[in-house]
Amino acid sequence: MSFFEQYAQIRKHTEQICLPLRTEDYVVQPIVDVSPPKWHLGHTTWFFETFLLLPFAEKYQVYNADYNYVFNSYYETIGNRVIRTDRGNLSRPDVNEIYQYRAYVDEAMLKLLQDPISSALQELLQIGFNHEQQHQELLLTDIKYILGHNPLFPVYHSAETKAKRETSNLREMISFTEGVYQIGHTGEGFCFDNELGRHKVYLQDFSISSELVSNGEYLQFMEEGGYGNFSHWHAEGWDWVKNNNITAPMYWHFIENSWYNYTLEGLKPVDPDEPVAHISYYEAYAYACWAGLRLPTEFEWEVAATKFNWGIRWEWTESAYLPYPGFNKAPGAIGEYNGKFMVNQKVLRGASVATPAGHSRITYRNFFHPYLRWQFTGIRLAK
Ligand SMILES: [Fe+2]
Repeated sequence: MSFFEQYAQIRKHTEQICLPLRTEDYVVQPIVDVSPPKWHLGHTTWFFETFLLLPFAEKYQVYNADYNYVFNSYYETIGNRVIRTDRGNLSRPDVNEIYQYRAYVDEAMLKLLQDPISSALQELLQIGFNHEQQHQELLLTDIKYILGHNPLFPVYHSAETKAKRETSNLREMISFTEGVYQIGHTGEGFCFDNELGRHKVYLQDFSISSELVSNGEYLQFMEEGGYGNFSHWHAEGWDWVKNNNITAPMYWHFIENSWYNYTLEGLKPVDPDEPVAHISYYEAYAYACWAGLRLPTEFEWEVAATKFNWGIRWEWTESAYLPYPGFNKAPGAIGEYNGKFMVNQKVLRGASVATPAGHSRITYRNFFHPYLRWQFTGIRLAK
C-alpha cells in the first residue's frame, strides 16, 4: 500500500471509531488518564501538522496557531500546553471545528504525499501512522471508561472487541531451557526506538502458560479472599487496594448475587471463559502469588511468544521499563516520544482486542504505571 493510501486509511479509521459517539461523549475527562475523544482527534492531527507539514510542506499555513497550546501533549521542545488534567475543560474548539481541522490537515498531507517522499519524511510518516494507531487504542479504552462510568451504562458497540475472545481449555506450561537469548527488534519494518539495541540476555530454565488467566480463574482468587489477604500483595499494592476499596477488576459490578462487567456492548454477565481484563499490575502480581506462580519477565515473554497466541490482552510482565543497552534518544522533539518515560513503569507485552490490526509485534514494549487498569490488561503466568 502506498503512503498516500496508508495515510487516508489510518486517518479514516480514527474517525470511524468515533462514529457511535454523541457530541457530549467527545468532551468529558472523568480521570486524568482518560482524554476526551475530541482531544485525541485534535492531538493526532496536530502531530502531523507539527512534525510533518511544518518542516516538509512548502508554504504550509498553520490552521490555527492557538491549537499548538491546546493539542500538544507532552513535548517540552514544542512549548507550553494545556495541562493534562484540564483537557476535559475545553468546550472550544468544538467537535465540528476539530473535524474541520482534521480535514484541513488531511488535505495538506495528501497533497504532500503525491510528491516524491524523502527518507526523512518516510521515517516521520511511520511514526505518525503508529502514533495515530496508539491513539486509536486509547480512543477505544477512553470511550469505554467514559461510557462505562456512566450509571446508564450506554452501549458503544464495537466489532474490535468481539473477536478472539475465548481462552482455550487446553492449557499447558511451555518449557524453555536456560541459555543466552537475543532480545530486541531486528530486520526490516517499523519499530519504536525503545525496541532497538538488540542484545543478549541470559535466562534460567522457565516455563510459561499457553493461555491467559480467565475470568473464571480470577473469580476463584476473589472468592478465596484474594483481595483480603495482604500476604499476596506488594506493600504498595496492598495500600492501593485499601485506599481505593478495590474488590474486583475495573468494570465489574456485583448485582443481585451475580457478577456483571461493563463491555463496549453494554453491561453483561461476566463470561468465565473470557480472559480477565482491566486489572492493575498489583492485581496481576497478587493473582500469580496466590496461584503459586509468577509473572514472566519481558525477556521470557519475547523468547516464548512464537509458541502461544497473543494479542487479546496487554500482558503485565515483571520487568521495569528501562532502556536497552545502547538506547539513544533521537534529537529534537521526537526524542521525547519514549525515553523520558523510562521510570517507575512496568512493561506490558503483546497487544489487546483494542489494538489496531498490524500495530504490534513480538518486540513491542508497552508501558504503564502499576496501578493503571483502564487498558485491556491481562495475566499470563510463568514459573
Ligand atoms: Fe500522542
